[in-house]
Amino acid sequence: MSAVAERFKIRHRLPAARWPTREEAERARLFQAARIGPVVAEQRTWVPAMVPWRATDDGFVTDEVLAWYARFAEGRPGVLVVEATGIRDVASGPLLRIGDDRFVPGLRRLVETVRGGRLAEATHDATWRQAPEAAVRERLVSADRTLLEAALDDRQREALDYGYRERIWDTHLPHIRELPRVLPGLFAEAGRRAREAGFDGIELHYAHAYTMASFLSRLNTRDDGYGGPREQRVRLPLEVLGAVRARVGGDYVVGIRYLGDDVVAGGSDVEDAAWFGARFAEAGVDYLSVSKGGRFEDAKQPRVGEAVYPYTGRSGYECMPTVLSDERGPFARNVPLAARIRGAVREAGFDTPVVTSGGIGTFEQAEGILERGEADFVGAARQSLADPDWFRKIRLGHGSLVRRCEFTNYCEGLDQQHKQVTCKLWDRVEVDAPDARLARDGKRRLSAPSWTPPEGDAR
Ligand SMILES: Cc1cc2nc3c(=O)[nH]c(=O)nc-3n(C[C@H](O)[C@H](O)[C@H](O)COP(=O)(O)O)c2cc1C
Ligand code: SF4
Repeated sequence: MSAVAERFKIRHRLPAARWPTREEAERARLFQAARIGPVVAEQRTWVPAMVPWRATDDGFVTDEVLAWYARFAEGRPGVLVVEATGIRDVASGPLLRIGDDRFVPGLRRLVETVRGGRLAEATHDATWRQAPEAAVRERLVSADRTLLEAALDDRQREALDYGYRERIWDTHLPHIRELPRVLPGLFAEAGRRAREAGFDGIELHYAHAYTMASFLSRLNTRDDGYGGPREQRVRLPLEVLGAVRARVGGDYVVGIRYLGDDVVAGGSDVEDAAWFGARFAEAGVDYLSVSKGGRFEDAKQPRVGEAVYPYTGRSGYECMPTVLSDERGPFARNVPLAARIRGAVREAGFDTPVVTSGGIGTFEQAEGILERGEADFVGAARQSLADPDWFRKIRLGHGSLVRRCEFTNYCEGLDQQHKQVTCKLWDRVEVDAPDARLARDGKRRLSAPSWTPPEGDAR
């Protein structure tokens, strides 16, 4: 049993839910409009980014991508964030890309669809010093753990245990050294394309295992002015924000998703995050969406031929907590991070909206967060996947019909295998229905069955 599993062995029940009447919902903070920079969201409900592995292998929008977003749009969230999207023009499997103008038409269709639907001195043998690399490799392959521990340095041991990964502080590698030179331009161009495609705004992905989160991390020891103390770790993220802002203009929403806590040994904590939040606000970001963990450092070693998946260690647990948890349980577990960051941003004199997410699936949780001033928007990724109509059902006084997420992460398991993401609560339901589009395995429907509000409730 892994260390993670030992810690997280209490099975929590879903919190009881009391759903508001239509009149209560109408008055609720959750359903009031709120400003995000130059735009106004109709409500404070938010669907955070979720990768559904539905693009083509070249990163183009498919009909399945369109159906994914169209279905969330039917629930009428205040904000619907598009999945992690590659800004470099390099292959990344069925993940959306925006690193070249050729991707714009497909992305434009996505926008239109959403709108249209509303939408290595251990052997004491000196000969090894001169041995050819292949012989050393061969010896290590048959070595026991004691020899490996003695023969490999920390990085090599980590690569053995968790798989080799480049780090943004590997500045001996030319393409890593030059990141600060190339990234602002790449992000800025991607931002321009997003605007051209018609999106209302862009979210800079500074969270999880992505490059910019590594720049912000306390683990970043680059010595070229972009690592070490906070002021230097935030430098590139601020330069990217500045370049994007200059390219898209002041009248366009530019938000940042970043980590309230890396949850890895030696990584950044909430005090770093609070300080970064104030710097981002000062630099004019339009919103801050706070996530947690999801780092590579503690991820499990992938099987041969498979890509490393960052959500498998403790930090991964914290990013998408499940009901098999510690005493705190998974529900609204990350809210204190958002609240601390919001406090720091307000103290610094900015009213930048802060978005929280993580284990939120009831009206009372969401409304309580807003009421206590812990965040300005409430994000729900898995609950929205489980029931894309849930915000709308609550809003219309039909909360008792909400299909509640069980927080057991079948969907995340599919994501880990790069399979088209669906939810266990509905993917085997009415698979024969004429409008049911099936996953490539031919067994699972790709979208939740649609929900029609009772007559007269069509809003
Ligand atoms: C299938 C799946 C894919 C995800 N993909 C992304 C992503 O592309 N970008 C991102 O910032 N977060 C991603 N996340 C994390 C969610 O946005 C969210 O932070 C996390 O699931 C916790 O919120 P929840 O409890 O409301 O689900 C993903 C989550 C899931 C379940
Ligand atoms: S598969 Fe499970 S965790 Fe994922 S959205 Fe559905 S019920 Fe929630």
